[in-house]
Amino acid sequence: MLATLKQVLAKANKGKYGVGAFNINNLEIIQSVVNAAAKLKSPVILQTSEGAIKYAGMKYLKVIVEEAAEENKIPIVFHVDHGRDLEIIKEAIKTGYTSVMIDGSHLPFDENVAITKKVVGWAHAKGVSVEGELGTIGGAEEKIVARKIIYTDPAVAKEFVDKTGVDALAVAIGTSHGAYKFAGAAKLDIERLRIIKKILNMPLVLHGASGVPEWLVHTAEHYGAKLGKPGGVPDDQIKAAIKNGINKINTDTDIRLAFDAGVREVIATAPEEFDPRHILGRARELMQDVVEHRIKLFGSAGKA
Ligand code: G3H
Ligand code: 13P
Ligand code: ZN
Repeated sequence: MLATLKQVLAKANKGKYGVGAFNINNLEIIQSVVNAAAKLKSPVILQTSEGAIKYAGMKYLKVIVEEAAEENKIPIVFHVDHGRDLEIIKEAIKTGYTSVMIDGSHLPFDENVAITKKVVGWAHAKGVSVEGELGTIGGAEEKIVARKIIYTDPAVAKEFVDKTGVDALAVAIGTSHGAYKFAGAAKLDIERLRIIKKILNMPLVLHGASGVPEWLVHTAEHYGAKLGKPGGVPDDQIKAAIKNGINKINTDTDIRLAFDAGVREVIATAPEEFDPRHILGRARELMQDVVEHRIKLFGSAGKA
């Protein structure tokens, strides 16, 4: 049985720890995340963007995720990440997702409230949780383009939550999506986060939270990747964010980097190799290493 976001984050909010939300779109990524979480006895959130749903198919992903939950007996949440298309959200609720994000952050405040409230109505009627977003998180992704970061205003956040009834709120405190997060030094607005948490006292979400670890970038580049000057959120700032109220931490880029490094390593070191299981097997190991590190960092190990 899958858990809801509300259940998992209520415990995290009370226990002051974070739960990893990892973006998935194929079998190997799902297995790497779930194996790491099961090994560390941690709850975990498996999330699919609209792009991931288009790539792999909602029902294919759902069957694998349900099997993972059945086999491993840890709380697993199945969540739509950055839902903007209401048809996809409706379909996800029907298909068996236990949580959806409605991302109205690009809309004027009243429109964001209206669309979020509508989704909360549909979702809560079926026992499905809802994450909303206020402010913008930078970075250019397929389907998510926000160049300028508008930080979340604490008073406006209170009004948004009161009017919509969301179970969790994604806040903008300086992170951005992708592998190139900061123009200069990495810096999150922890003081703003502290105030938002004090006013809302509810589960808060950090998007764009990948660490872009140096060892991973070096490994990928050693085997031929050309990544320029990437940079992520350092571990100590993730810790500070959790200490000040973040309970769901989104990670996609680090998994992509680990996948890339693993595939490149096999292709570069064993050019005679062409069995997908051997090529993807190494990627799966590296992705699991990355996820294990993050689960320990978030403090959710042993909380399953
Ligand atoms: O925050 C967004 C995720 O990184 C998903 O990216 O839309 O390319 O799947 P995607
Ligand atoms: P990263 O690009 O930092 O991994 O962020 C992912 C994310 O926020 C998914 O919603
Ligand atoms: Zn995001």
